[in-house]
Amino acid sequence: ATAYYSDTNGVPKDGDGRVTHLGLRAGELAPRVVSVGSLSRAQRLRDLMDSVSLSLTSPRGFTTYTGTVAGVAVSVVATGMGAPMMDFCVREARQIVDGPMVFVRLGSCGGLSPEATPGTVVLNTPGSVYVSRNPDAFAGGEGGSTPAYTIARPVAPDPRLCAHVCVALRAALGDRVVEGLNASADSFYAAQGRCDEHFDDRNSTVVPEVLAKHPDACSMEMESFALLHLAACSLGTIRACTAAIVAANRHSAAVITTELLHETERVGGRAVLNAVASFGLYL
Ligand code: URA
Repeated sequence: ATAYYSDTNGVPKDGDGRVTHLGLRAGELAPRVVSVGSLSRAQRLRDLMDSVSLSLTSPRGFTTYTGTVAGVAVSVVATGMGAPMMDFCVREARQIVDGPMVFVRLGSCGGLSPEATPGTVVLNTPGSVYVSRNPDAFAGGEGGSTPAYTIARPVAPDPRLCAHVCVALRAALGDRVVEGLNASADSFYAAQGRCDEHFDDRNSTVVPEVLAKHPDACSMEMESFALLHLAACSLGTIRACTAAIVAANRHSAAVITTELLHETERVGGRAVLNAVASFGLYL
């Protein structure tokens, strides 16, 4: 019998050297990565690449396309949603690629500010905060007096990478690019202030609290903080920045059309792919 994987206290790999969740091994992932949440967005970006040498869907829900953009190796990874999925992506990618890496996320988000209308792309030049639910506040006893949600301080993107992506996005989308702070939440529902009568969530003030503390907050999603935080903790080996297409505005409740979403994915996706391919790798 063979062990399912090795190195359980490090970054586990199977007998072929494949990391457990991405399903990739050395040589299959480029040092330049565009991460997206949804598989269909990844497919749309794949269709914009010059060539694709690897397509792999892992049993844990990650799909990777590795190929070239303007002659430079680039990978597009569909991570699915949430901070743990981004954590798998960044840590397992780091494990199988040598040398400096660049990660740019092109996600989707809710728009928090009035200008973050459906079909705009929020580039998180000031970075992202993190909103998390505090289970102790719901448990009674001593924890009952602690806040139900906490807001971690902003983590910034790599400024040069972010400026480079900004130039590319603005050239492609003009004033449909909004620069502002992101708030990543630990869930789509409670920590993003969505109300659900079936649960005790105490979350009606979460979004107003984020905006009171950070008036420049423009977007809300679930993954960007994890990427920026890990890049900041990567001992200088990963440069990252994040952007997201506004799917709906949380004030006006206006929702993007399918056509506008797909067009923004294509136009914004091409800009991000070209920016990632043309950004020099350095430590
Ligand atoms: N992703 C999120 O996490 N929230 C939104 O409102 C939209 C996309």
